[in-house]
Amino acid sequence: MRLHPTVTVLKTRAHSLAAALFALALPFLAGSCANQKKKGMKDTEVSATQENARPQGPWNAVDGNRLPTSVGTKDSYSKVNTSMPFVALTFDDGPHATNTPRLLDILKSRNVKATFYVVATNTRRYPEIMRRIVAEGHEIGNHTVTHGNLTKMSESEVRKELSASHEAIVAATGVAPRTMRPPYGAITSSQKSWIRREFGYPSILWSVDPEDWKKPGASIVANRLVSGARPGGILLVHDIHSASIDAMPSAIDQLLAKGFQFVTVTQLIAMDGKG
Ligand code: NI
Repeated sequence: MRLHPTVTVLKTRAHSLAAALFALALPFLAGSCANQKKKGMKDTEVSATQENARPQGPWNAVDGNRLPTSVGTKDSYSKVNTSMPFVALTFDDGPHATNTPRLLDILKSRNVKATFYVVATNTRRYPEIMRRIVAEGHEIGNHTVTHGNLTKMSESEVRKELSASHEAIVAATGVAPRTMRPPYGAITSSQKSWIRREFGYPSILWSVDPEDWKKPGASIVANRLVSGARPGGILLVHDIHSASIDAMPSAIDQLLAKGFQFVTVTQLIAMDGKG
């Protein structure tokens, strides 16, 4: 959105500079342009090669779908670096039979988009809710199958957790998740690295945790979210708790009143380092 004018300005500046160089040194410029073109082509070739080189796991077998290109440039994000007033609301551990549809109504009435880190047992149990989440413009992320502590699992166990959850999400919605969140935020830097390499997922943590799972009450959850929010922030909520859903109208309305806008996690990551 706001990024496009910036990009256009940069391009315009680049063109002005190119025009000046053209007048001064035509042969040099010709070489420079050719190099730029080559460089662009090379980048494309490199990313295609990386995709081909990615180990083929069982998660790639779902309808023959290939994994999408990696999101962002980092192995992990707990927030993104931007001064623009965007935040990502994330909801973990669902979907839940009644709380998630109630939450979706609240989000819809405010035209707010969020990201849902779903657990595969619930993904399989509530495929209609999964499809509703996607149909209403929200994003789905991988939150494993058993919701165990990944740091206590072997590499093959973690791989199974993520691939089975990936498959369940694709089976329910037809859409592949592009990010993952480790249960309890527990993950090693080595796991972050190979998970991104194999699955294309950055590991998504958070910058604001209202500890809603301790059930402090809806108004406290809302106040913690509002007071903790900063540009580029990632807000953690659990849509399996009724009181957390009760907190959302107030939390969202206060954040909107403060000038925040809500985007999905991959949209937020796209703003990282962009002003
Ligand atoms: Ni969780």
